[in-house]
Amino acid sequence: MTQHSLFAKKQIDVNQFKNSTLERHLTAFGLTAMGVGAVVGAGIFITPGIIAAKYAGPGAMLSYLLAAVVCAMAALCYSEFASTIPLAGSAYTYVYTVFGELIAWILGWALISEYLFAVASVAVSWSAYFQNLIAGFGLHLPTFLSTAWTPGHPGGINLIAGLITLLIGFLLSNGLRESTRINTIMVGVKVAVIVIFLGVAIFYVKPANFKPFLPFGAGGILSGAALAFYAYIGFDAVSTASEEVVNPQRDMPIGIIASLLIASLLYAAVATVLVGVVHYTKLNVGDPVAFALQLMHQNWVAGIVALGAVAGMTTVLLVMTYGGTRLIFAISRDGLLPPVFAKVSSKTHVPVANTWIFAIDTSIVAMVVPLDKIAELVNIGTLFAFATVSLGVIFLRKLPFYNELPQGFKVPLFPWIPLLSCGLCLLLMTQLQLTTWIVFLIWLVIGLTIYFSYGYRHSRQ
Ligand code: ALA
Repeated sequence: MTQHSLFAKKQIDVNQFKNSTLERHLTAFGLTAMGVGAVVGAGIFITPGIIAAKYAGPGAMLSYLLAAVVCAMAALCYSEFASTIPLAGSAYTYVYTVFGELIAWILGWALISEYLFAVASVAVSWSAYFQNLIAGFGLHLPTFLSTAWTPGHPGGINLIAGLITLLIGFLLSNGLRESTRINTIMVGVKVAVIVIFLGVAIFYVKPANFKPFLPFGAGGILSGAALAFYAYIGFDAVSTASEEVVNPQRDMPIGIIASLLIASLLYAAVATVLVGVVHYTKLNVGDPVAFALQLMHQNWVAGIVALGAVAGMTTVLLVMTYGGTRLIFAISRDGLLPPVFAKVSSKTHVPVANTWIFAIDTSIVAMVVPLDKIAELVNIGTLFAFATVSLGVIFLRKLPFYNELPQGFKVPLFPWIPLLSCGLCLLLMTQLQLTTWIVFLIWLVIGLTIYFSYGYRHSRQ
C-alpha cells in the first residue's frame, strides 16, 4: 500500500500547456456557443412556472437575476483558473493543484453528482416535452411507463427518460463528439425558439398579472434563486475544453461570461413574459412555456417551441454527458477510480466503458426518481463545487510556482469577489430542502468510503 499525504497536490508541468496533444481550434465564439448549448435547456422550459407559483410570484425574474449574479461571480473564479491552468478536468484539476488530493476527490465526487443528476433531470424534462409532442399525433404511453412513481400519484417508470440517456450514451460511445458547427446550429435553433415565444407572448401580457409583485416576500426571491440556479448549470463545462482553445487566456473568460450573460437575458425575459401572460397561481406546471402558449391558443407556436425544447435539451444532454465522462476519466487517470474508467477504445478514441456505465446510471435515476427531487440534488453538488472553486482562487495566487503559470484573466476586486461568491453559494445551499441535504451527505459518505478503500491506495501522486 502506498503511503502518501491526503493533501498531496497535483504537480503541474508548465510545458504541458504548450505540448497538449489536442488540437487548438476553439475560439471565443465557439466557446460561447458551447456554453449556451450546455446551459439553456430544461431550466428555462420547466422551472420558471414552479419558481413563480411557489416562491417568487410575478417577481420570478428577480430570482433568475440573483442566481445569475451568484453564477457570474463563480464564473469569474472559474475563468481565472481556466486561463491560469488550462488543463482538462476542470474544477477537479484546479482544486487538486491548490488544495490537494482529498479535497479534490470530495469536489470531484460532488461534481459527478452534478453531472449525473443534471443529465437525469434534463432527461426527465426531455421526456415530458417529447410525450407532449407525440400526444399531438394522438400517441400516448400508458401511465405506468410515462412517469416515475411517487406516493399518492399513479406512475411506474419514466421509460422515455431512461431511453434518451442510453441513446446519448450510444452516440458518445461511438465517438460522436458534437462538433462546434453542429452545436452552433442547435444553439441557434434553441435561441430562435425562445425569441419566437417572446415575440408572440409579449402581446398577451396583462399588467394586472404582475400584482402583487412579491406575494411571498423578499425571502421568496432567495428560495426561488436556489432553484433558478439550476438553469445556469453547465457553463462550468466550458472550462473542460481548455486544452482545445486557441488563446485560453483571452477566450476562456469571454466564452464563460458571454454564455452566462446571454442565458441571463433570455431567462429574465422569459420569466417576465410568462408571469405577465399567466397568473402566477396557475403556473405550478411542468411545461409552463407550452402551457402559456396553449392558453393563448397559439398551438402551432407551441409545437415549434416543443420541438425546439427537445432539440435544445438534447445538446444539454450531450455536453453534460460528455463533461461527466471526461471528469470521471480524469479522476481515473489519477488513479482515484478503477482504470476501466480511463480505458480508451483504440477504434473510437473514447472511453467506452466509462460512457456506458455513466449512461446506465443516469438512465436508472431518470426512470425512477421524480424531477423536483433530482433538480435540487444537481444544485447542491454544484453550489458546493462553486464555493470550493471560489475559495480556491485565493489559494491559487499563493502557490509557490504561481509566477511560472500563464498569467491570464484575473478576478477583479480580489479577494472580495471570491469570498462573496463562496458566501453566496453557501447561502443558496441553505435554501435547499432538508432531504436534499441528507441525500447529499449520504452521497459524500459513499464517496469518502470509496476514496479510503480504493483511491487513497491507488493514487498516482
Ligand atoms: N442548465 C441546464 C438546463 O437548464 C441543466 O437544462
